[in-house]
Amino acid sequence: MSIESPTDLATLVKDDEVHQSVYTDPAIFAHELERLFGRSWIFVAHDSEIPRPGDFKTDQLSRWRLLLVRQQDGSIGLFHNVCRHRGALLCHESYGNTQAFKCMYHGWTFANDGALRGVPMREHMRGLDLPAHGLVPIPRVQSYQGFIFASLAPEGESLEEYLGGAKRYLDLMVARAPDQAIAAVKPVQYHYRGNWKLQVENYSDNYHPAVLHHSVLSIGVQMLKEKFGDQPLNARSGGRYVERVLGHGHSMADYQGGRGALWMNAYDDEYLRTLAKRAGTERAQELRDADIHLIIYPNLLIHVRMNHYRVIKPVSVDHTIVNTYPCKLVGASKSVNDALIYNTSHHVSAAGEVQVDDLQAFNWVQEGLGSGAIEWIPFKLYGEEEHVDVQGENVSYGTSEAAIRGQYREWARWMTAPATNAAHASDHSASYR
Ligand code: FES
Ligand code: FE2
Repeated sequence: MSIESPTDLATLVKDDEVHQSVYTDPAIFAHELERLFGRSWIFVAHDSEIPRPGDFKTDQLSRWRLLLVRQQDGSIGLFHNVCRHRGALLCHESYGNTQAFKCMYHGWTFANDGALRGVPMREHMRGLDLPAHGLVPIPRVQSYQGFIFASLAPEGESLEEYLGGAKRYLDLMVARAPDQAIAAVKPVQYHYRGNWKLQVENYSDNYHPAVLHHSVLSIGVQMLKEKFGDQPLNARSGGRYVERVLGHGHSMADYQGGRGALWMNAYDDEYLRTLAKRAGTERAQELRDADIHLIIYPNLLIHVRMNHYRVIKPVSVDHTIVNTYPCKLVGASKSVNDALIYNTSHHVSAAGEVQVDDLQAFNWVQEGLGSGAIEWIPFKLYGEEEHVDVQGENVSYGTSEAAIRGQYREWARWMTAPATNAAHASDHSASYR
């Protein structure tokens, strides 16, 4: 299928099917960078990664190189991590604290607010305008509950508008901490040979665990059976498990505290007592038991119970990096936080029990789709039951593919939206204008 215009891109997505080329075609990946990642809000860091003035973080999202710096006044400076002289990558450390960044090539030096301060042999550079040669800023940076997002588009809806119904689950992340803050620790990183959307879809796919993760689930199967019966995530009659499609591609899956048997119970009595002092006993129990997967489209996945977040970093159409940041609950005991970090490591690391299964599946899906054998991929599970509730959200009381359908509605919205506020024109998007 050849793609010449936004109208063509729209034909790749139906209500409950997508064309395989959205996973395999490098030209469509290039369109995604410009039209989706280049315009929507993308997650870049949590406050706790750069808490003090001068703290910085560098990161990469496909071709973009990012440099975040905590400013003296507490705000975030976000720049392209590219020297303004001849374009060398400027900072090569992942994290640190500094007043200035010096380029390794010719020694141009930039203050940590992005201003160009030092130029060797400047007196011999006729007409060099220092203020015009500071680091190139990313147009918009906003945060919510400590989660910092950026947009490469100078204009567009605010972050709060964009997050919409997802905000209440970010509120929940903070409310679960005795001191109402979370603190990220060093991330666990994995790569896979597959398209970035495979991981995003997988995070709301509760159709697969009983099959793909059978080996690990079988270890705790008796405990799960006692809690759920034979169909733990299909308890439609009991209404125990809920999926909500929150708009803008965001979604949540609420396991209603039912998965305690799957990992170490991190939450001790002291944690509950501390929370109860602030929130009351009933609310403290709700906060302790919260067990939700949250997807903030397009690149942030949050595990409320394990208290971690994952950042999806597309590299190319068939290569993705995911950084998973275990988080401490500020004010909770060391034993609670140690258990949370252990659980996340156990879940996603190379020696872990669960994520390795998913990564193998992603590799095989990418390989299978790359063969061109199938054209359309169905996401039809419980499509006929989708309905909008009083909150204006699509709700499913049981395993469905509703969240994935919601992701593709958002994908199609960005991919076909007029290019009025595109971040950077490219050869691929230029033909649309
Ligand atoms: Fe950075 Fe020349 S490229 S100083
Ligand atoms: Fe999985």
